Amino acid sequence: MSGYDPGSEGAQMSFREKMSYSDYLHLEKILDAQAPLSAAHDELLFIIQHQTSELWMKLAIHEIRSAKAAIRDNQLQPAFKMLSRVARIFEQLNNAWDVLRTMTPSEYTQFRDSLGQSSGFQSWQYRAIEFLAGNRNEAMLKPHAHREEVVAELEKILAEPSLYDEALLLLAREGFDIGPEAKRTDWRQSRQPSDEVMAAWKKIYQAPGEHWALYELAEKLVDFEDYFRRWRFNHVTTVERIIGLKRGTGGTAGVSYLRKMLEVELFPELWKLRTEL
Ligand code: HEM
Repeated sequence: MSGYDPGSEGAQMSFREKMSYSDYLHLEKILDAQAPLSAAHDELLFIIQHQTSELWMKLAIHEIRSAKAAIRDNQLQPAFKMLSRVARIFEQLNNAWDVLRTMTPSEYTQFRDSLGQSSGFQSWQYRAIEFLAGNRNEAMLKPHAHREEVVAELEKILAEPSLYDEALLLLAREGFDIGPEAKRTDWRQSRQPSDEVMAAWKKIYQAPGEHWALYELAEKLVDFEDYFRRWRFNHVTTVERIIGLKRGTGGTAGVSYLRKMLEVELFPELWKLRTEL
């Protein structure tokens, strides 16, 4: 095809006075945002892996927020679509570990000191996703105290019901007894699993045909958490493969901290009820 000019079939070839692909996507900004601090070959991989993860997290936050609002408005079909997308985003992030895994401990060691104390532990978007989903821990606000706008954003999320809270409030509106949670007004802390909520979901799973929409909602939530758990597992496995049992740059004990986080359950009753069915 050498010498072929796509302009001859109408491809726009001049953008002096028109918005181009780069202009629309602000590519200069994005492609100018990689600034390795060392001469190590693999630092660019490390930076791009984190930046692309943050971009996907931005989209996940957008989708979870809208899914929450849709559930609040009893608009379950759009909520299902958004929750499916969130699960697919995490699947995408899970596949991305394959690229990072090509970096060996020897290669990471060449630039690890350049990171200083910075760590994904300080990813405010990751905390936003956890807070939005329902895993809330005020201590996680502390690393952001130097950035008022970030704390304000996270505080705003904590002031409102989580995605799971919205699902439970919907159960209450649909006539299920969810116990005292139906009257809850303070959302800052993670909720404790409750027998009433468990009993409500159990009724739904025992008669899916009678409660199809709620049954589907439950499965969308489980799907999201399933992919999220895989992300945590892939992260800790990659971390062990690359730094072994060394402490994290963020200051935690590293792998043992991340293993503890594997125990977090976003939607506990939806997992527990499976034993009882
Ligand atoms: C060489 C690759 C990586 C290593 C060695 C690594 C290591 C660690 C360690 C040790 C922690 C615990 C906190 C600390 O003490 O630093 C951590 C937390 C975290 N990392 Fe990574 N990480 C890597 C890649 C990534 C990537 C690509 C992401 C994507 C954004 C990421 C996101 C996170 C998040 C969100 C946390 C907080 C987890 C939580 O608090 O539950 N990490 N990482």
